[in-house]
Amino acid sequence: MVQIVPILMGVALLFWPMLMTYSFDETEAELEERLGKITESLVSRQRCFTDNDCRENSFCYDNDHNRVGLCKCQAGYELLLRNRTYYTCKTLSKWGEDCELTEQCIDNLGSLALCDGTCQCQPQTSRFPFDGRCHEINLLEDFCRSDANCVLEDGSYAFCADGQCQCNIGLRPTLDRKHCVIARALGENCTDDYQCSFTANSVCRDVCRCSIDYVISRNNTACLKAATYFNETCEEHVQCSEFLRDSVCSNNYCGCQDGYHSYENKCVRTVNVGSSCGDKDECIFSQDYAGILDCLEGVCQCLPEKRNEPVCGGASHLQTMVSVFLIVFQIFCCVRFIF
Ligand SMILES: *[C@@H]1O[C@H](CO)[C@@H](O)[C@H](O)[C@H]1NC(C)=O
Ligand SMILES: *[C@@H]1O[C@H](CO)[C@@H](O)[C@H](O)[C@H]1NC(C)=O
Ligand SMILES: *[C@@H]1O[C@H](CO)[C@@H](O)[C@H](O)[C@H]1NC(C)=O
Ligand SMILES: *[C@@H]1O[C@H](CO)[C@@H](O)[C@H](O)[C@H]1NC(C)=O
Repeated sequence: MVQIVPILMGVALLFWPMLMTYSFDETEAELEERLGKITESLVSRQRCFTDNDCRENSFCYDNDHNRVGLCKCQAGYELLLRNRTYYTCKTLSKWGEDCELTEQCIDNLGSLALCDGTCQCQPQTSRFPFDGRCHEINLLEDFCRSDANCVLEDGSYAFCADGQCQCNIGLRPTLDRKHCVIARALGENCTDDYQCSFTANSVCRDVCRCSIDYVISRNNTACLKAATYFNETCEEHVQCSEFLRDSVCSNNYCGCQDGYHSYENKCVRTVNVGSSCGDKDECIFSQDYAGILDCLEGVCQCLPEKRNEPVCGGASHLQTMVSVFLIVFQIFCCVRFIF
């Protein structure tokens, strides 16, 4: 029994270099436990014997006494994208600084950060100067968590109150809910179109006024579309008369008063054939008569070469056929009757 101890020591000495190299003094369970503990201290899961076994900007940690260690980032580098098979060590970046991975930006800008060459905020989010982080942008009157969510189109901030983005007292959200403005009515002083935007189709030209092709309603509160052709729909006469001279709104369509007809973009007095006229337009009460009727010697009449047209008293095809039929009928029936 006494002799066994030196023998075992001899055997141990013989295998000592091997034990040093392969770390047979640690069972797999012990190894797992030790590595599990250091994994918690921001170390990758990549096992290593030497620094050469590790990726860029990292070294082999806790591999003393030739034990298996784990790769760890050098000082100033952060362990990113760690999983069972992969990790990377990179510096963290601030807003606007160069980056390769979004993970480099998240520490400074929060989870809504994005790396696009430099660290930025994701689309539909904005960096709040107060905390320097990215926050979702919410429209006015939409849900918000803090003022940081209530960034307006011009970069200024509204208030988050009662869980909603709201404008300052005296201001109103524009229809697109991206601006807070003083609401101006038609005819009131203004400094930008947004102030006038509460009246549809109006713009700011020193005062709020109707956009081009729109006219102000009788009650001065609305801008109505001006008609550019007859038969366009309307609510008020002014919509018709803006571009169509003397046109009136009748039964919600732009037309002419009784006794008048439309000619091109105006209403003119209707003159019948044979009555006195001042202008050719008065005679042409329908496009059918263009090139047929004219105002000649102050009277609406047919052009000499059109005298055989029906409107000019000339026989139409139907009239001719009826006449022929009557004559033939008379010949056949009445002549036979006589005899
Ligand atoms: C580990 O992370 C890398 C980089 O993000 C990825 O490509 C790989 O698929 C991941 N592997 C596992 C097992 O999740
Ligand atoms: C509108 O603006 C003009 C010129 O800037 C100013 O003289 C006038 O007092 C203003 N009117 C109103 C109602 O603010
Ligand atoms: C003013 O006129 C417009 C157009 O006719 C109409 O839609 C609107 O309801 C009117 N407003 C008032 C306050 O009467
Ligand atoms: C307008 O519409 C009416 C009925 O639809 C039609 O009879 C008339 O010719 C039209 N007028 C013009 C100028 O188009």
